Amino acid sequence: MGYRWAPYPLLTRTRPAYAHARSGAGFFLETCAGYPVFMGDLRLEELSAKTIVAANSLELRPGQEQFVTPTSYAIADAFVNPVTSWPRVVLDGDRVVGFIRGNFDPDAQQHEFRSCIWRINVAADSQGSGVGKFAAHALADEARSRGFDKLYVIWEPGDDGPEQFFLHIGFVVTGQTQYGESIGALEL
Ligand SMILES: CC(C)(COP(=O)(O)OP(=O)(O)OC[C@H]1O[C@@H](n2cnc3c(N)ncnc32)[C@H](O)[C@@H]1OP(=O)(O)O)[C@@H](O)C(=O)NCCC(=O)NCCS
Repeated sequence: MGYRWAPYPLLTRTRPAYAHARSGAGFFLETCAGYPVFMGDLRLEELSAKTIVAANSLELRPGQEQFVTPTSYAIADAFVNPVTSWPRVVLDGDRVVGFIRGNFDPDAQQHEFRSCIWRINVAADSQGSGVGKFAAHALADEARSRGFDKLYVIWEPGDDGPEQFFLHIGFVVTGQTQYGESIGALEL
């Protein structure tokens, strides 16, 4: 199944080496408009009764569990309206290899909760092969289609944390929460 995302500057190049990291499962093409296209097995599906158990039991790498739910999200979880949630699984063939949950709530009091990645997890043995980037950019596409011009994420700094991932895919640190977490934003 083909998947096309928007022309983020950092993605407007062909990436054959990256495809090799996925054991030949996919490759990038460049369209005549210069936009990259990922052709491969990865696809996004709405979280369902069929996938929820696999999504909840994704095994992470040692040391990563503590970064899954930054304090700001853990606290806000009690107040967030479930209808603003956008939960999706990433499938590689038939296997759930990732989970991403967005939140889209233009009325949220805190601007970083209006259009954001609330959770993103990739199975330990699928990390480093583009699954997280695929999921984050699919969520960014969804945010753009809803009229947002930024996608936010909050993460906890730390050696085994996701900071380098978010910076690699284009997020820029815009501030800190009261709990010392980083707030990152991606221009859409
Ligand atoms: C963060 C996470 C989602 C990244 O997923 P992933 O599938 O391994 O990331 P990708 O393979 O798509 O990586 C995309 C880019 O980020 C880079 N990257 C990812 N993790 C990195 C790290 N720890 N250090 C340096 N670069 C990293 C990759 O090299 C790749 O760069 P490229 O585009 O130049 O090739 C995954 O490590 C994870 O599930 N972590 C545990 C849960 C977590 O911390 N979630 C965040 C909560 S806020």
